[in-house]
Amino acid sequence: MKTKALVFDAYGTLFDVNSAAEKCKDKIGTKWEAFANFWRTTQLEYTWLRSLMKRHKNFWEVTEDSLDKSMRMFSINKSMRNELLNLYKILSPYPEVRGVLEDLKKKNYKLAILSNGTPALLNELVTSNKLNNLFDDLFSIEEVKVYKPDSRVYEIPIKKYNLKANEITFLSANTWDVSGGGNYGYNSIWVNRNKLEFDILDYKPKNEISNLTHLLDIV
Ligand code: LAC
Repeated sequence: MKTKALVFDAYGTLFDVNSAAEKCKDKIGTKWEAFANFWRTTQLEYTWLRSLMKRHKNFWEVTEDSLDKSMRMFSINKSMRNELLNLYKILSPYPEVRGVLEDLKKKNYKLAILSNGTPALLNELVTSNKLNNLFDDLFSIEEVKVYKPDSRVYEIPIKKYNLKANEITFLSANTWDVSGGGNYGYNSIWVNRNKLEFDILDYKPKNEISNLTHLLDIV
């Protein structure tokens, strides 16, 4: 494999998007997981809709808007809003993330994040989890102000590193993001953490792994 850079999606791939609501499950009750899934789905829908409508708002604003709708849908007490938002800024990484990144770094791979998150959010996520020294770059869609899976997003690391698309191995747990990167020309790998079905969107990843540990067998 001619991988010259490993580029990771952030939310859902490196960081557990449900961990904010999970940390409040005593207060939210058994509906916490349905609520967390609805918040995430609404957040993503808003990114796609805003890009199609050409009415960009940054990922933090979209996260707040989708939280407000989700809290109303699930009758969550308004007093939870700040707590959930603060926890979203410091989402927990999945357990294997640090070890795998450290091993890849030792092998001298260029490591980057390419995410919908704003530069400030990505910075806080990696810093609060003490992962900041492991990445060469944190690429944000704010550079192009359009959300994934627009091809202008996947172009960002290509331009920065002066590489061909197929020299980038892209890791995402989000099927639609794997399809987006794959259709763009990346070697996309699907991190299928929850035994889901893949999309029918013109791209099938050559590799599917259940968590990032298995990446070490591929690269
Ligand atoms: C991101 C979203 C797609 O980090 O999870 O870009």
